[in-house]
Amino acid sequence: MSIEQLAETAQAMVAAGKGIIAIDESTSTIAKRFAGVGIENTEENRRAYRELLLTTPKLSDYISGAILFDETIRQSTKDGVPFAKYMAANGIIPGIKVDKGTHALAGCQGELVTEGLDGLRERLKEYYALGARFAKWRAVITIGDDIPSGTCIEANAHALARYAALCQEQGLVPMVEPEVLMDGSHDIETCYEVTEATLRSLFGALYEQNVMLEGTILKASMVVPGKDCEEQASVDEVADATVMCLKSTVPAILPGIVFLSGGQSDEDATAHLNAMNQLGNLPWPLSFSYGRAMQQAALKLWSQDLKGNFAKAQSTVYARAKDNGLAALGKWEG
Ligand code: 13P
Repeated sequence: MSIEQLAETAQAMVAAGKGIIAIDESTSTIAKRFAGVGIENTEENRRAYRELLLTTPKLSDYISGAILFDETIRQSTKDGVPFAKYMAANGIIPGIKVDKGTHALAGCQGELVTEGLDGLRERLKEYYALGARFAKWRAVITIGDDIPSGTCIEANAHALARYAALCQEQGLVPMVEPEVLMDGSHDIETCYEVTEATLRSLFGALYEQNVMLEGTILKASMVVPGKDCEEQASVDEVADATVMCLKSTVPAILPGIVFLSGGQSDEDATAHLNAMNQLGNLPWPLSFSYGRAMQQAALKLWSQDLKGNFAKAQSTVYARAKDNGLAALGKWEG
């Protein structure tokens, strides 16, 4: 795979006014989302729900790609069209989550490292054959008393870089995601410092592993105070801090940065993205790769009447895509 092809895919993922919908919840994570609205976590319900999201009419107006879970990339629409094939035919780039989740990091109390490198080359080959053109790996950095440690930041950056190099070898654009969690009572300055150290370590590791940044997308968390912090930040404070942190750590050659929503409300996730884009003069497109902030309203509606509300839930998905697509241009009006 040439770097030109990887770069072309990466640029298409962050095309002007478009972003990504993350629907790559593992079976245990979707169980929690379904339980929250009283839906039984069966394979057919998961398939039907992912079909609702992926077949939203005109989704590609504002959505460039979707991240799937291993089970989902092997599933089809009720008419028997494999999801990845349906997506490609409808202007949505298929993506796949390839990490195997977080595990306790030995010797580092309360910290996590993401696993999944063993056998990854073979899995990537299969995902490419199934139609995937980009792949996501999520690392988790927790803020707490005396954490994160340098050990945790470096172990996760190293794993992210090893996975990214393997992706590029197999023709998939890596979407590297070092998520600094919002859990905790830390202030916005602490989140800034941790995010800065995490991104510095990540880009150092990507360089060490010969990852080509022109064919890489960063999935970042925003610089926000912890959920339990008494002093919450304004939309403009979050936008300023996040953009400053990214500008000081992320090389300009990167084709684009997309954000996770991480537990923010739909409104906050959109307002923050919009405010960042209104700052202007950014070295890269800033867009979204939201999971919850794209889906939660639709999931709630669907849960009230799985058949009757199918189309209504799809309009909600489209509305969220539109709001976030406008925010990616700094043109959302609230
Ligand atoms: P949220 O937007 O719900 O945080 O999910 C995005 C994601 O893919 C996290 O890995």
